[in-house]
Amino acid sequence: MNNRIPRQKYSALLPFVVLLGMLVISCTVPQAQHSRQEALEPTKAALVSPGGSLVAIHEAKAVDCAACHGKNQVVDDNETIVNTKCIECHGPLPEMAKKGKGHINAHKSHLGQINCTVCHHGHVASRPYCLGCHSFNMPIPGSGGPLAVKKEPVRSDKKVDSTDIVIVGAGAAGFTAAITAHDAGAKVILVEKNPITGGNSMLSAGGMNAAATQMQTKKNIKDSPDIMFKDTMTGGKNTNNPALVKILAEKSAESIDWLTSIGADVSDVGRLAGATVNRAHRPTGGAAIGAHLVDVLRKNAADRKIDVRLNSRVIQVLRDNNGRATGIQVEGKHRGLYVINAKAVIIASGGFSANAVMVESYRPEYKGMTTSNQPGATGDGMRFGETAGGKLIGMKDIQIHPTVAYGSRILITEAVRGNGAILVNKEGKRFVNELTTRDAASAAILKQQDKMAYLIIDENIRKSLRQIEGYFHLELVKEGATLRDLAAAIGAHPDTLEATVAKYNTAVETKNDVEFKRADMPRVIKTPKFYAIGVQPGIHYTMGGLEIDEQTRVIDNNGKPIPGLYAAGEVTGGVHGANRLGGNSISETITFGRIAGTTTAKVVLKK
Ligand code: FUM
Repeated sequence: MNNRIPRQKYSALLPFVVLLGMLVISCTVPQAQHSRQEALEPTKAALVSPGGSLVAIHEAKAVDCAACHGKNQVVDDNETIVNTKCIECHGPLPEMAKKGKGHINAHKSHLGQINCTVCHHGHVASRPYCLGCHSFNMPIPGSGGPLAVKKEPVRSDKKVDSTDIVIVGAGAAGFTAAITAHDAGAKVILVEKNPITGGNSMLSAGGMNAAATQMQTKKNIKDSPDIMFKDTMTGGKNTNNPALVKILAEKSAESIDWLTSIGADVSDVGRLAGATVNRAHRPTGGAAIGAHLVDVLRKNAADRKIDVRLNSRVIQVLRDNNGRATGIQVEGKHRGLYVINAKAVIIASGGFSANAVMVESYRPEYKGMTTSNQPGATGDGMRFGETAGGKLIGMKDIQIHPTVAYGSRILITEAVRGNGAILVNKEGKRFVNELTTRDAASAAILKQQDKMAYLIIDENIRKSLRQIEGYFHLELVKEGATLRDLAAAIGAHPDTLEATVAKYNTAVETKNDVEFKRADMPRVIKTPKFYAIGVQPGIHYTMGGLEIDEQTRVIDNNGKPIPGLYAAGEVTGGVHGANRLGGNSISETITFGRIAGTTTAKVVLKK
């Protein structure tokens, strides 16, 4: 199988990668000259002209550049000074969230404590970062405008930095590796190409798989690393690397303990598809795992003063004449090109689900399919990892998630089905075991009319899973006081939907799903109101990537580890085989992130 990345096509995706590669706010009112309230209310002229950038808006209020840029202060790639000044004038994000108007408030989001400059720019048009995933009508001051001021980025004269370990990608794997290596005594730098940290991990919903944990024991759930190993191998069609799966299963409980020790709440345990027992750990009440974990990891990195650099895109991994990785070349949004010398490089930059060209090159049949991923998931680490000598494996193993909200990029977590939802087609008929593996559920949906389906839940299931409230907030849910009303709301036949649900409820009560052999049916669907969410399959995860060994060392085409080069998380291949089980992704990032951090710290501190 040819796993090589098609380079000529890859470059076409670069504009997508550089989603917000722009300059920042230039001029605001000096603190003494304006009140906060004035600053919050753009002038009439600026509002009338949707082309007005933030520079224009601030200029109209007689604001000078120093108000945003400080006096003689360099704008670094984290845009620290500008963000500090934004908050001084406008207040922090939670305060802005309280002031929001309209039904959807972008300041109150799952992205957590992010910089203002993620969305707001001074010298180019502002753009809500959320629109990379959502498709709301979300105008913001200064959006849609032309360049107001031509200004060169601030560039540092310093062209080389040095550290013990440089880590690429600030998702869960990168943060975990950074914190672990730091705690072992190593000096680390964590670089992230996006204007915010969190990567795809931040969007992770259903939970983190772990076997034989204290939380399972408390809930009387009988599980073991051996059962988790078997479920994972079966889910992956036995094409996974068994040595890596063994580590994933055996170290999973330890990973849960580590997360708990650094402040995470993973006390709720639910079921995701393909698992034979409940082992998906998530916050109390069934809240989404990803946003919570990323918040905890961010805070731990900040508490340790770990050097995290945003807007910093890796160009290449540097190697010496012996083939040893010696650092990376980076392009900072403001600093420009520079080198970070390091004794070890860890690639943790995620998969390529959001790279439509790459997806199509490996799986032409997925052309045009939506994705549940953040726009930065473009496979860069696979490209520069391969260029540095790494071997790519399993690149055609691309996972489709059956339930992305219809016409959007919003994942509807598998936990909704795990907590009792059924899937019906447009007629109102069930057509599949809802908890079969993702590939099988997706294939079944694609055979239905309009290649879509509806998740059906009642009030009771709604209350069982906190994440569901988010779908209401995003206005993705249709409802009915009765099943007949719901059928009318989604255009299904009332008799058919009623009969389908009645039959399913009998299956729950008799613990026997004669039609589709669904094993886990935790709740009947009987309590009004009744709800439906339209769903379609979307590209969700790329199982292939850089081959690694049990120590997370990147393997070359001769089967040898590349000295100094390590990788963890979705950028690697081998753990999940042909099909990843839900809940195993976050599990992999924490377990292998920790191994990467520990291994590299040991190696660099020995020198
Ligand atoms: O549906 C989900 O919550 C997805 C989980 C996962 O991909 O691990």
